[in-house]
Amino acid sequence: MLQMIKMTGKKLPFTKKQIEKIAAHYPTPFHIYDEKGIRENARKFKKAFSMLPGFREYFAVKANPNPFLIKILKEEGFGADCSSYPELMLSESVGIVGENIMFSSNDTPADEFVKARQIGAIINLDDISHIGFLEKNAGMPEVISFRFNPGPARAGNAIIGDPKEAKYGFTRKQLFEGYKMCRQKGAKRFGLHTMVVSNELNPDSFIQTAKMLFEIAVEVKEKLGIKLEFVNLGGGLGIPYRPGEKAIDYGYLAAGIMKEYRKFIPPNGLQPLKVFTECGRIITGPYGFLVTKAIHIKHIYKDYVGTDASMANLMRPGMYKAYHHITVLGKEGRKNDRTYDVTGSLCENNDKFAIDRRLPEIEVGDVLAIHDTGAHGHSMGFNYNGKLRSAEILLREDGSVVQIRRAEAVDDYFATLDFNALKKFRAYNRGC
Ligand code: LLP
Repeated sequence: MLQMIKMTGKKLPFTKKQIEKIAAHYPTPFHIYDEKGIRENARKFKKAFSMLPGFREYFAVKANPNPFLIKILKEEGFGADCSSYPELMLSESVGIVGENIMFSSNDTPADEFVKARQIGAIINLDDISHIGFLEKNAGMPEVISFRFNPGPARAGNAIIGDPKEAKYGFTRKQLFEGYKMCRQKGAKRFGLHTMVVSNELNPDSFIQTAKMLFEIAVEVKEKLGIKLEFVNLGGGLGIPYRPGEKAIDYGYLAAGIMKEYRKFIPPNGLQPLKVFTECGRIITGPYGFLVTKAIHIKHIYKDYVGTDASMANLMRPGMYKAYHHITVLGKEGRKNDRTYDVTGSLCENNDKFAIDRRLPEIEVGDVLAIHDTGAHGHSMGFNYNGKLRSAEILLREDGSVVQIRRAEAVDDYFATLDFNALKKFRAYNRGC
């Protein structure tokens, strides 16, 4: 039985003892994912949204491109939203193909369209100029979707920014031209997509988005006689990273979208318009934890806890100043009476998992769990400073663990270098 430890509103699906046992086999740092949490959440999500006609969630692979997790989500009835060639391959590797893939890319190279066509993915174009590009390089498919950028009509939010400053999507006018062009080129079935916010906790923002897309669906039918087959509300549903923040209520959101659907869709003869989402964060985010050890404590003008992880393992705090909750294992009951910057080892002063965080006193050897790393965590890793990406571990429902990705080794880092060529290479010392 897994023990749930409640910590100021943030829970851990494992105990310190369990983590010590796991760390004896798989050295820190590692990301650990809670299969039970992922499955239960996926079921709740699917159940709530199933009130929407033809509902389908395409899991945004970019959030966590681990095929073991994608396979779990496939079992729970999800498709995959891909944005690159390797993501298409990952989906294919777990048997997600055809229209169970939404290919929502941007600035797309030709070979990616070719691959998407080859496996029958639904192609969601980012720009009107991509219509000719797709036709020339991969042919016009029977089904085609466009990403809409509402520009000044919507406000956007912190991570994704102001829509009129965002590089994505078609303008409203371009949508109409685009559908006409694609129909002329042989497309028979049409979809409409948008994504205006990221990590948004206000469900009303998504209800507004749904309404906006339903209104366009009505106008497309009126102006072009085209009945859209689906709208895709994109991803961007937020999660409560901070203790005390409120999680999105799936039932409230689905009912709010359905209310708008009833207003716009049946009265305009647009049924059965299907409703899709392509969420990543809300599906796996809260069920991942970066487990890392304190290896140095430093007192200068501030107090620092140096961990054995770095931005190579979790970039969000450094990149977006994002809050990720930290639990010091075994010290859950103690007072948070110290203030620390919790750092990684990069030669970058923004390599900090937390700044001025109130925590219990930390000693070298303490193990820290950094919360909510199940989406946009490991997947955003990189190798600056020669730092290696960590392993990924799956905590199964029975408490056992499986390593679902090994840690990178130095050989992986060097794999793209040819040291034999280096021996033959003559470096000239020019000048100075
Ligand atoms: N669909 C498209 C076209 C997207 O660009 C994204 C995320 C998603 C779906 C999934 O969004 P989600 O539901 O996971 O929020 N790396 C950042 C956020 C950038 C998201 C980029 N696109 C982060 O760590 O917060």
